[in-house]
Amino acid sequence: MPKSKVLVVGGTGYIGRRIVKASLAQGHETYVLQRKEIGLDIDKLQMLLSFKKEGAHLVEGSFNDHKSLVEAVRKVDVVICTMSGVHFRSHNILLQLKLVEAIKEAGNVKRFLPSEFGMDPARMAHALEPGRVTFDEKMVIRKAIEAANIPFTYVVANCFAGYFAGNLSQMECLTPPRNKVILYGDGNVKVAFMDEDDVATYAIKTIDDPRTLNKTLYLRPPGNILTQRELVAKWEKISGKQLEKISVSDRDLLASLKVMDFAGQVGLGHFYHIFYEGCLTNFEIGEGAEEASKLYPEVRYTRMEEYLKIYA
Ligand SMILES: NC(=O)c1ccc[n+]([C@@H]2O[C@H](COP(=O)([O-])OP(=O)(O)OC[C@H]3O[C@@H](n4cnc5c(N)ncnc54)[C@H](OP(=O)(O)O)[C@@H]3O)[C@@H](O)[C@H]2O)c1
Repeated sequence: MPKSKVLVVGGTGYIGRRIVKASLAQGHETYVLQRKEIGLDIDKLQMLLSFKKEGAHLVEGSFNDHKSLVEAVRKVDVVICTMSGVHFRSHNILLQLKLVEAIKEAGNVKRFLPSEFGMDPARMAHALEPGRVTFDEKMVIRKAIEAANIPFTYVVANCFAGYFAGNLSQMECLTPPRNKVILYGDGNVKVAFMDEDDVATYAIKTIDDPRTLNKTLYLRPPGNILTQRELVAKWEKISGKQLEKISVSDRDLLASLKVMDFAGQVGLGHFYHIFYEGCLTNFEIGEGAEEASKLYPEVRYTRMEEYLKIYA
């Protein structure tokens, strides 16, 4: 069977650029939306040109031009959207409604992967304000996809290592703390960490796979399900230095919400659900879902002890 042609929307983004690379690496004819709104953003343009050099096709289009989105979608079999969804960076999840409309009109798409790649929004109906906005908006997109009968796969990627492992899950930095580390509660809640390149590899693996059609794919490879304490211990082994551990109760963490800006409050809510409630691992993967490392045992996913070495 020939490999599906893929359109990546949001291809210059943090996860989007990895999806483009993984699509090319797995031999898919790959198209990347080139939005005219990028204007004079030389970094985005250079990245798009580098994709072209690697064999991708650039397709001009805009979220303000429905026809251009329909035309872009008509060129391919699979659409993957990696629209921004991190509040302290950029958050435009609902814009995807325009893409859903275009896919519906085009009528040719065999699989759509919307911008998910985080926690499972379907399991977060109880989430705290204001962080729940991320899940609520992702659910709006899911409902629109399903109402339009668009074939889908939802990739639940859990914790990107760049945001959650390199900093030992500290909220205000992206590198390991030097002396003291904040532990959430006893630090013994299981969390799933993922190398972002592996997220992209697994996402592309799903697109021609009937086992993931209209399903959620959880990325929970057993070697990367770790407690925060275990993650810290791996870093201590690499760095050869013990860190002072300061435990923060859920009450104290939530009390600090009041003094934060909106983006901080959103992030803190997510940390609460991940590190106290254990929302990434406190359930069995059941009907309508699959686990990536079981479906694709051939992928040699990066373990956190390997990932963390770059910070040494
Ligand atoms: N699991 C985790 O730990 C984790 C961490 C971070 C993000 N995520 C999730 O991953 C997904 C992608 O996030 P990201 O951080 O990779 O996003 P990002 O890099 O901030 O942005 C991705 C892309 O969104 C597009 N975009 C932004 N504003 C737009 C607008 N107004 N109109 C049209 N396109 C716009 C841009 O596409 P162009 O390339 O066309 O300019 C941009 O490159 C989100 O769903 C997010 O929640 C998960």
